[in-house]
Amino acid sequence: MEASLAHNGATQAKFARGWYLVDWSTELRPGEVKPLRYFGKDYVLYRGDNGQATLLDAHCPHLGAHLGYGGRVEGNEIVCPFHAWRFGPMGRCTKVPYASRIPPRAAVRAHGLQEHSGMILAHFGPEGIEPSYEVPAIEEMNDPAWTPLQHAQIGIATHPREVIENIADYAHFLPVHKTLIDDFKVIIDGPRATQHSIGRGHNLEGDPIPVVSVATYHGPAIQFTRLQWAYDMVLINAHIPIEENELLLRFGVILKAGEGVTLPPEVLEAHVAAARNGYFEDVAIWENKCWRDQPVFADGDGPIGEVRSWYASFHSDATTSG
Ligand code: FES
Ligand SMILES: [Fe+2]
Repeated sequence: MEASLAHNGATQAKFARGWYLVDWSTELRPGEVKPLRYFGKDYVLYRGDNGQATLLDAHCPHLGAHLGYGGRVEGNEIVCPFHAWRFGPMGRCTKVPYASRIPPRAAVRAHGLQEHSGMILAHFGPEGIEPSYEVPAIEEMNDPAWTPLQHAQIGIATHPREVIENIADYAHFLPVHKTLIDDFKVIIDGPRATQHSIGRGHNLEGDPIPVVSVATYHGPAIQFTRLQWAYDMVLINAHIPIEENELLLRFGVILKAGEGVTLPPEVLEAHVAAARNGYFEDVAIWENKCWRDQPVFADGDGPIGEVRSWYASFHSDATTSG
């Protein structure tokens, strides 16, 4: 199986190489088939009866039907809706129901997946290049003191670089997020970039409380935020391009209620909603702003240039360490 959602010449410069969240684990049941469109291309995602998720290029090598529209799972294979050719998780055709032999070139490209921490992850990059880093598991998900993963997603019209740049944008916290930041730094380490911030916000009762956040991008598209606010929380902030200026923004959250503690549903939902809304607060800015290649900066703006360079490093085909 190939390790990457392969670049081709046309997409190479457009999209950053690395791991992307292609779906939530709970959103793909055994036997389910989904058409996906990411990176300006069509894919089909399905889950076999053995529980394994498989991601293939969408279009059948026979006469080009989209396997994600009407394709069905049999065992761990997918059957094309048009003439019922079957394809396995490696993308090879395993059966042509009306023919005596399978044509040797009957295959679709299969893309390697990893699945952990409630996420189905695929690596996007040049063909043949192995991932140069891993997305770590969220250990808190194995701790009974934490609530089950809840998630949301929205499609927005913007470029991924706008989402990335947010981690270095010190001066937007107060106007956009209503949080006063006392301490702020961004540390870049190979494929990871971490924003540390200590600030002052409010709990849902309106009392002032500290807000401590450590938010790490593992590569160009998946960020885990450890947040100390009214509760301890772990947030998943992930984006994936659909087309060049259109992306899907995904938000996941677990919250530390305490072992054996069941929070009243309305309390849990109010805190989940506050965290989710906080993440989505930038959307209106992103959808309507323009991109400045050479912004006019003021002192105190945060290390936006450094984060731009770090993000640009995922657009070369060279591998990074880490
Ligand atoms: S197009 Fe898929 S089997 Fe014919
Ligand atoms: Fe923001």
